[in-house]
Amino acid sequence: MQDDHVTIIEVGARDGLQNERNWVPTDVKLTFLQKLADAGCNEMEITSFVSPKRVPQMSDAEDIACHPFTKRDYVLVPNEKGLERALAVSSHVTPAFFVGASSSFQLKNIGMTHTDSLHLIPRLIAQVKNQDRFSRLCVSTAFYCPFEGKMDENQVVDFCIPYIEAGVDELSIADTIGMANPKQVQSLFHKLQQTFPNVLLTAHFHDTRKRGLANVFAALESGVRRFDTSIGELGGCPFAPGATGNVATEEVVSFLDDLGMKTGISLEGLSAAYRIVAPVLRRPNPTTYAKLGPFS
Ligand code: HMG
Ligand code: MG
Repeated sequence: MQDDHVTIIEVGARDGLQNERNWVPTDVKLTFLQKLADAGCNEMEITSFVSPKRVPQMSDAEDIACHPFTKRDYVLVPNEKGLERALAVSSHVTPAFFVGASSSFQLKNIGMTHTDSLHLIPRLIAQVKNQDRFSRLCVSTAFYCPFEGKMDENQVVDFCIPYIEAGVDELSIADTIGMANPKQVQSLFHKLQQTFPNVLLTAHFHDTRKRGLANVFAALESGVRRFDTSIGELGGCPFAPGATGNVATEEVVSFLDDLGMKTGISLEGLSAAYRIVAPVLRRPNPTTYAKLGPFS
């Protein structure tokens, strides 16, 4: 991959919409996803196969995942039942497993201890690898936990080892509550690169304290070329108190354009996609991009 090419993984339809109280109709989600794909998003998280009681907004996962949108449509999968549901509906989707570096957060989010996930997730990763599929693992609370505070960097790296040994292709490293600073970002990504040189590393920043773009820059400087972002700054984890949306796709794309880096994503196309969900959200787009337009 060229050094000036950056891959954006659009997570608005999953991380973004999962946090919306008002039901977003399935046909709106489908049009939204298609417009995002039309805008040039080549990888997206499209839905979650989680408990519909706990995350009602994702209860139409089957109706979303049966449509292919991009070369890699990720679906969040918490457990065996989630994987069965995902694979039953489509051979196209790519499972994205998720664990929490903080055991308190993980327990609240998926009701599993670290020991539980160690018994389960490597087995699911191996199952996916045996089918020659790509596998993604999202590591929440890699910098701060809403219940435990600051995470120990070395422990976070060690936490990832069994999943790497199981053969996972990508680690998406998350600042779940948007508290990391650029130095912490550089330090953790540096250690992860040194320890796992053959794994794709992705940065997943929530923009709660408006450090998103600073952290994107820090990660870029460390060599990271994959970012999870969410159009219109949609999102947040319903089980992480205080979490707000991901760093906005349009701001990251505009920022990268300004830095002379290439994403292949059209800002006009993103605006067209946002217009699909805006009437359902019924609130102003909070991004600086919406107020001021592109950086350059
Ligand atoms: P559970 O309730 O904790 O425990 O679910 P359970 O395994 O005993 O299951 C209870 C019921 O759920 C049973 O049904 C199961 O069949 C059903 P009942 O007998 O009551 O009718 N069930 C399922 N149903 C559908 N799909 C499934 C499934 N599994 C069990 N896959 C579970 C465990 C993990 C499902 C639940 O805790 C859950 O869905 N949690 C939601 C987690 C979630 O979606 N969190 C947000 C996404 S993570 C995130 O946003 C962070 C990230 O962005 C990175 C970052 O920023 O940090 C990725
Ligand atoms: Mg997230």
